[in-house]
Amino acid sequence: MIPQLENVKVLLRELLRPLPVILFPMSQQFDLIVIGAGPGGYVAAIRAAQLGKNVAVIEREPVLGGTCLNVGCIPSKALLESSEKYSEAKNEFEEYGIFADVTLDLAKMLKRKDGVVNELTGGVAYLLKKNKITHIAGEATITAPGKVPVGDQVVEGAAILIATGSKSAPLPGVEVDGENVVTSTEALNFETVPEHLVVIGAGYIGLELGSVWNRLGSKVTVVEYLDRIIPTMDAEIAKDAQRILKKQGIIFQLSSKVLSAKAVKKGKKIQCVVECEGKEPIIADKVLLAVGRIPNTDNLGLEALQIATERGRITVDENYQTNVPGIYAIGDVIAGPMLAHKASEEGVACVEKLYTGYGHVNYNTIPGVGYTNPEIASVGKTEEQLKETGIEYRKGTFPFAAIGRAKALGQTEGKVKILADAKTDAVLGVHIVGPRAGELIAEAVAAMEFGASSEDIARTCHAHPTLAEAVHEAALAVDGRAIHF
Ligand code: NAI
Repeated sequence: MIPQLENVKVLLRELLRPLPVILFPMSQQFDLIVIGAGPGGYVAAIRAAQLGKNVAVIEREPVLGGTCLNVGCIPSKALLESSEKYSEAKNEFEEYGIFADVTLDLAKMLKRKDGVVNELTGGVAYLLKKNKITHIAGEATITAPGKVPVGDQVVEGAAILIATGSKSAPLPGVEVDGENVVTSTEALNFETVPEHLVVIGAGYIGLELGSVWNRLGSKVTVVEYLDRIIPTMDAEIAKDAQRILKKQGIIFQLSSKVLSAKAVKKGKKIQCVVECEGKEPIIADKVLLAVGRIPNTDNLGLEALQIATERGRITVDENYQTNVPGIYAIGDVIAGPMLAHKASEEGVACVEKLYTGYGHVNYNTIPGVGYTNPEIASVGKTEEQLKETGIEYRKGTFPFAAIGRAKALGQTEGKVKILADAKTDAVLGVHIVGPRAGELIAEAVAAMEFGASSEDIARTCHAHPTLAEAVHEAALAVDGRAIHF
């Protein structure tokens, strides 16, 4: 840049500074102000716009889509797909009669992931535009019901919806430095494949990202506080999943309380040391902290407005309204599983209740999916929950090993498990570990939404040969009449 030209630019910028205030009003008025453009916020905004409302979405990040699109569900799935293809090509193709020299270009793999993310975040921007929703960039703090100053302007609206999502939870003693000891955000972007990755926490994040790097060649050790993996999952299915993942090379160190984890300099190299109670320290190149997430409520103005929270999560009533009239909250900032689709459903229900009087989320039929290979999916009650509440049930299970399509695919690990009420036969829970479990669970969700019995699923014709036949057979197995096992 020529110095004189730079000076002229600075002068011009100073002269034009007051213009935005003159050109744009200091205050903008909306029916609904949504804070946060993740799958909760942007979906709620679109639904409100469909209902004829004038909506603004305030987002502090430069890109729309929230954690899910930018640093969560989508990039992790893109990397899971790439690493799965790499691992298949390297380790399994010969079984199918295909011989190939396989090499890894990690930079290209990461670039593809970024491309997928960019397309989808661009898609959200397009959808907001299409629905005539005003996108306001900046950090929002609520100063009073209906008033949200953002930078130089005050955004005003009859209703405010908080949909600010969550961030990685810290763990005392674990010194996250963003390079060696990291959260899921950085674990999506390692520039080289770590030799040894220690994952703290055997939840969905730990197992998915642990799978990615394990497939790409890292030794992966998952350290988990409890004596089992994925605590929210049906125990039998979680045990099967652990066995399968162990066969893939993931090392599990269960019943291990992590006391500390930090990067230390050893000569010219940096090493991570993970100390667990009563166990030998683990030395690794990278450590991923994945022990859950906490709501993003900093700087929202909750304390000043005395908005009630419980264990850090905003308290809402059946209309998703906080204790302050006109201020609503949905998604990860309120109680319940921190899942993108749960947030979207709540966003739709919240604005429908607000503008039409009707809206509903059936919390008993929110599916959960872990995108390991094979996938893990569930809906409804686990066997442990039924036992705890004393509900009598019948159980049908069916292995993918007895399914023709699974054999043809070469993916025979896992099973479908259906739990049905012993008296009414209503389906109470469905749990799957197996190929494309995340897609198969949709049938179970729809069945439960319609109040189906296991007999209803058993009497439904399922195409042959498909993986869905495992769901059909498990339903037959509830009554002891599976055909192929
Ligand atoms: P999580 O809560 O699912 O699992 C955390 C794990 O860490 C638990 O097993 C817990 O027992 C363990 N843990 C806690 N303290 C520990 C300690 N001191 N030492 C060792 N282990 C410890 O949390 P995660 O995986 O971080 O996921 C956060 C949220 O994001 C969850 O609500 C999850 O459902 C959601 N998510 C969903 C995905 C999906 O639907 N596929 C993918 C990624 C995240």
